[in-house]
Amino acid sequence: MSRHIDTPRITAPDIRARKGGEPIVCLTAYTAPVAKILDPHCDLLLVGDSVGMVLHGLPNTVGVTLDMMIMHGQAVMRGANRALVVIDMPFGSFEAGAHQAFANATRVLKETGAQAIKMEASGPDIGETIKFLVDRGVPVMGHVGLRPQAVNVDGKFRAKGRTREERAKVLQEARAADEAGAFAIVVEGVDEALAPEITAAVKAPTIGIGASAKCDGQILVTDDLLGLFEWTPKFVRRYADLKGVIDKAAGAYAADVRARRFPAAAETYVLGGKPQRRRVAGDGKRG
Ligand code: KIV
Repeated sequence: MSRHIDTPRITAPDIRARKGGEPIVCLTAYTAPVAKILDPHCDLLLVGDSVGMVLHGLPNTVGVTLDMMIMHGQAVMRGANRALVVIDMPFGSFEAGAHQAFANATRVLKETGAQAIKMEASGPDIGETIKFLVDRGVPVMGHVGLRPQAVNVDGKFRAKGRTREERAKVLQEARAADEAGAFAIVVEGVDEALAPEITAAVKAPTIGIGASAKCDGQILVTDDLLGLFEWTPKFVRRYADLKGVIDKAAGAYAADVRARRFPAAAETYVLGGKPQRRRVAGDGKRG
């Protein structure tokens, strides 16, 4: 008989049940060591396709591939054991229809061990695709408002909600994702009056980023809040200056190496009490 294994990890239904309750704390993570640090503080860790810009130096998220998401998803799953890990479906991996989305989403879940995916789904098929996945066992987090994957259509990253039509479209997409069974919905870059309207209109918790405090939870790109970049968007609060810390540390290391202050005796192996002889290339012996 197979044994049922209870996981202590937060689940998609746990997150869904938090609607209107204590704010849901979410951050992005792309690597095992950072996921391990963030895990005790967060309810949900998103392996966002922002990884393309943050770690790989891409100009936007359009070039991110499914293989990249799977590799970073595996790393985050190794580092975190409590938070719900959600993997972003990259541009081109779900838009062709429900069957393409299901094939790629199940590959992501099988190969990473994560329990949910996120889709920047938009347009008339949004509900159909999300429902197809949810009905077949794939928990889906929606994403409405500013959709970075649409940058080539929008022309730039631009907050949504300037016109009545734009507000109605975002609200309609949030409703469609909700009715299709999304367990949570990221609301990104919208006018501050629109976020509470969406939050009130949907049963799923809303997770805001640049969407005011009137959401059921918040998410930020971790590297933004840590201050790893010169520029931060308006909606980011910097909680640290890691760029400054790294810059200072690298400068101090470089100065020590150049002045032969590093390594010192304390950082040098002394094996068997004898001074180490340098290995001469090709002599096959160790000093
Ligand atoms: O890719 C990402 O990191 C995201 C969050 C900013 C919500 O979609």
